[in-house]
Amino acid sequence: MAGTGTAHLRPEDETLLRVQDLVVEFPAGRRKVHAVSGVSIDVRRGETLGLVGESGCGKSTTGKAIIQLPRPTSGSVRFEGTELTGLSGKKLRDVRTRLQLIFQDPISSLNPRRKVGDILAEPLRIWRRGDRSEQLAKVREALDAVGLDPDVAMDKRPHQFSGGQCQRISIARALMLEPELIICDEPVSALDVSVQAQILNLLDDLKERYDLTLVFIAHDLAVVRHVSTRVAVMYLGKLCEVGDPDAIYESPAHPYTAALLASIPVPDPAVRPDDEDVLGGDLPSPLDPPSGCRFRTRCPRARERCAAEEPEMRAVGPDQFVACHFPLVGEGGDGAGAPAAADGDGHADQSARAAGSERADGDGSDGDGSDA
Ligand SMILES: Nc1ncnc2c1ncn2[C@@H]1O[C@H](COP(=O)(O)OP(=O)(O)OP(=O)(O)O)[C@@H](O)[C@H]1O
Ligand code: SF4
Ligand SMILES: [Mg+2]
Repeated sequence: MAGTGTAHLRPEDETLLRVQDLVVEFPAGRRKVHAVSGVSIDVRRGETLGLVGESGCGKSTTGKAIIQLPRPTSGSVRFEGTELTGLSGKKLRDVRTRLQLIFQDPISSLNPRRKVGDILAEPLRIWRRGDRSEQLAKVREALDAVGLDPDVAMDKRPHQFSGGQCQRISIARALMLEPELIICDEPVSALDVSVQAQILNLLDDLKERYDLTLVFIAHDLAVVRHVSTRVAVMYLGKLCEVGDPDAIYESPAHPYTAALLASIPVPDPAVRPDDEDVLGGDLPSPLDPPSGCRFRTRCPRARERCAAEEPEMRAVGPDQFVACHFPLVGEGGDGAGAPAAADGDGHADQSARAAGSERADGDGSDGDGSDA
């Protein structure tokens, strides 16, 4: 099957993580769920890649397949030059200590029967890192780093904390083995807006403090813009658009990206998205994805070619790549080119407003662990 191409990938020696043509399919009776169908992404050390798309498009499956849970059906996942798809046993477990995943639901991902101190110390015990007093010191340091008082938090169980506090505990657990890369799967979607900002700022601070590289999964483009150095937009198991967040938000090239941007709520009722950008219909079933371009059943620009031929990723700017036969910017479309200024500026404003200022608001109480 033709993938969506790799034109957007950087040279391998520049990247910490490089995923190429990742395919994940789940059996469903005699059929298959095509959850991820040829996704290629890469992340340089120190970058934050925002992976965005609506519910069910395959974001979590991509994140999990990177750490080989589940094993991809095919494709390559290279981390620090090591191919992970062929690894097993201790070698794979060893790599996973440097490559952590924060799960989508902060509360259910923590064992309700264990005390927080034990939850955090467990990876240190399993990997025999330090003696008991060193492990205790490390747990206290991690709790402190995520803004929770170790004296209060250590002996409590997860259900005694709020959602935001549980997310802080999940982040602390991910830090215990000093990973290089953390995949954060929708770390703020389940949280109140004010708490979201606190967690986003916390991740930003921890990234600096611990030299982390992040893959940040979200369905909300406004959130992703705030944290990302590069953005990849996903639709029904495939990538649509990849590149520099500013370029993508100011002038989206893929009709789906434009639709996602148009769907960001704007406080001013006088500002309405263009009709062409409003996303109608539901995500088609991944059991039987549309031929050609998977977005064609909802795309206002779709033509015959879109059903017959899958679009390949190609450059439309210095760091902007799109998989579309008739993109909104660049050459190769129908000559309609960019509806740029109106669309782009409008969307940029919307996303900026929705995302808040440069640094997310609600930061005042950050650090005291008092998330509501
Ligand atoms: N273990 C599984 N078995 C069968 N189908 C699965 C499995 N895991 C995921 N899927 C299907 O794969 C598709 C992608 O799911 P995934 O959870 O990766 O989406 P997502 O983008 O993370 O969505 P959300 O934003 O809701 O978390 C969905 O159709 C989902 O139902
Ligand atoms: S390839 Fe065709 S259907 Fe797909 S996004 Fe582009 S114009 Fe729309
Ligand atoms: Mg998910």
